[in-house]
Amino acid sequence: MITLDGVHLTYPHKGGSIEALTDVSFSAREGEFLSIVGPSGCGKSTLIKIIAGLLPTSKGEARVDGKLVRGPHPNVGIVFQEATLLAWRSVLRNIMLQIEVRQEFENDAYVPRARDLIKLAGLDGFEDRYPWELSGGMQQRVSFCRALIHDPPLLLMDEPFGALDAMTRDEMGVWLQKTWMERARTVLFVTHDIGEAVFLSDRVMVMTARPGRVKEIMEIDLPRPRELRITEEIEFVKYVSHARRLMHAEGYY
Ligand SMILES: Nc1ncnc2c1ncn2[C@@H]1O[C@H](COP(=O)(O)OP(=O)(O)OP(=O)(O)O)[C@@H](O)[C@H]1O
Ligand SMILES: [Mg+2]
Repeated sequence: MITLDGVHLTYPHKGGSIEALTDVSFSAREGEFLSIVGPSGCGKSTLIKIIAGLLPTSKGEARVDGKLVRGPHPNVGIVFQEATLLAWRSVLRNIMLQIEVRQEFENDAYVPRARDLIKLAGLDGFEDRYPWELSGGMQQRVSFCRALIHDPPLLLMDEPFGALDAMTRDEMGVWLQKTWMERARTVLFVTHDIGEAVFLSDRVMVMTARPGRVKEIMEIDLPRPRELRITEEIEFVKYVSHARRLMHAEGYY
């Protein structure tokens, strides 16, 4: 579904340059949940932007579904750290915005689907409310619905739970796993939280400090659906400490 081959990215900076990514190669299978962890500034957001087609590589290539990424492409849903909802639009209208900006779609045909997603997100009864009437976790669930409404085969998430408190984060993690298991999309999930990455993922990719490279890709062999109490089990803890050791070696903590 996603293939990166020898991707380098250098940003111009004050007459010089900053090397953000160096020789990044990996692939993600269709339907896989792959998390990316790594020290701050190692190029995780840069990687997401390259795959979304928002940023061209300096060298090497990125492919989605076999096609070379040359610019923004429609078959992707993106969720960022902030929900970025429009305050003057209801929950339903915020979700429908994704359809309205893509003029090739028939708007009304997507309303029942939006309502289904609202239900799936546990927001039944809130479709006509406004973002400021919702908690942070609820707002973020609306932004997930907005990313899913056009049924993209690929979901890119850049620290989508970053702005939430620990308990809401846990809840959202369980919710995201359930949603993913029902819809089986390929997911690339950036997080700072190693436990969250292990909990959610089929594989966890650990990156080196900047310039970011792939340090190791860990296969997470834990049964699904995973419940929160799995975080206390020895197999889970082993994965987390292994990833933490890799991060330590990169000067993290
Ligand atoms: N537009 C830009 N111009 C110049 N340098 C940039 C730009 N965007 C990012 N960088 C630099 O590239 C590196 C990678 O940035 P990126 O945002 O991808 O890191 P990150 O891994 O997402 O970090 P964090 O975990 O803090 O979100 C950083 O050192 C950053 O300073
Ligand atoms: Mg980032």
